[in-house]
Parts: sequence; C-alpha cells; structure tokens
Amino acid sequence: MRILSPSILAANSLDLGNDIKKTEQNGVKWIHIDCMDGNFVPNLSFGYSIVSDIRKITDMVLDVHLMIKEPIRYVETFCKAGADYLTIHIEADTLENTKKAIKMIKEMGVKAGISVKPKTQLDAIEQLLPELDLVLVMTVEPGFGGQKFMADMMPKLKAIREKLDEVNPECRLEVDGGVDLNTVKICKENGADTFVAGSAYYKAEDKAAFLKEMEA
Ligand code: DX5
Ligand code: ZN
Repeated sequence: MRILSPSILAANSLDLGNDIKKTEQNGVKWIHIDCMDGNFVPNLSFGYSIVSDIRKITDMVLDVHLMIKEPIRYVETFCKAGADYLTIHIEADTLENTKKAIKMIKEMGVKAGISVKPKTQLDAIEQLLPELDLVLVMTVEPGFGGQKFMADMMPKLKAIREKLDEVNPECRLEVDGGVDLNTVKICKENGADTFVAGSAYYKAEDKAAFLKEMEA
C-alpha cells in the first residue's frame, strides 16, 4: 500500500493543531515530523514536545524524522513522546551506536527507520536492512523544505528496493525532499512506497485529490 506522509515543516506553526485535524479529515494516514538540531543539519525545527502534543490530538501514524547528531541520546524521549516510526540518520553516529539505537527503538515498541543523505550509498546500511521497518532515502540535502528533487537518487532507491525484496520485503521505502505529483512518478517506478511531501501538500488546493493521486 502506498502512503503519503505530509511534512508539517511546511505548515503554519501557529495553526498547527487545526491544520493537523484538517489533514486527518482529508483522509491522510501518516504525518511526517522533521526534528532538526542545528548541528547535524544547519537548521532548527521541532523537538519532542511537539510530538507529544500532536500525539494527544490525532490517531494518524506519527512518522518522526530525526536530523539530530548522536540520536541515541534522544531515542527514548521521542519514543515516549508517541512516535510510531522513529527514523535516525546513518551519518549521525558510529555504526555501533546506530545499531544500539535501532535496538532501543524496537524494544520500546516503536518502528525503526534509517535515513540516508544523498551522498550515502546502500553499502552503508546494507547490514542493518533485516532489522528495519523503514528506509528513508533523502532526495534533497536534509535541512530545508522547498528544495529541488534529486532525480539522480533513483538508482540508489532501486538498489535498496531490490535488496529489501531479498532480505526484508515488509520494510517500507520512503522518499523525502522535493516530492510532488510529478516527481513521485519515478519514485514509484523505482520502488518507493511512502512519500513525504511538504511544500507540494500544503500548496495543493484540493488536498483530498492530491492524497489520492500520490497514493495511486
Ligand atoms: C528536509 C525534510 C523534509 C522536508 C520536505 O530536510 O526532511 O521532510 O519537509 O519538504 P519538501 O517536500 O518541501 O521538499
Ligand atoms: Zn523529513
């Protein structure tokens, strides 16, 4: 099943509660929450308290994307805050700590994801694939919404899909950055099944139609 995960980074923060309720009423099943530390990426955004506040007002799946250095320090906090999927970056710590963090996430009953920046290749995460619930392929440099989609990520996306089909076919494969009704087509062709859309979702006039087409 294909899933749209709108990124609230593009929402109006002052009206977030109403916005999330409207998004749920539109039939959206997942919501993507980008948490940035101003260190792993050159931008600051949401912390764990927004996750727990959102948890109180919606049953949507909370798809939390941590762009945080040494995320193991915060894994427990974000799990307790109510994340359903907690995704950390492979580049954010040593492989040993990343393995420990994945274990911690799963022990807390939360689904574990690993994200790769554009320059990171499949071999960096290959040994982790059997343990994961989600792989997030960045199609922009992480840090900001509204950037141009990098179509040159498609061979990597396809290679990850092929490897997952061998070792962990249930694992979701998500793309994030510059995904819209046009660029989503090649993402689908190359095996992605979960689509983050910030600007494109919030700009869409008919959000129910946007959702339907993204998930078709
Ligand atoms: C970027 C974030 C994205 C961002 C996507 O670092 O991870 O989730 O919100 O925004 P758009 O869809 O506008 O590229
Ligand atoms: Zn994201």
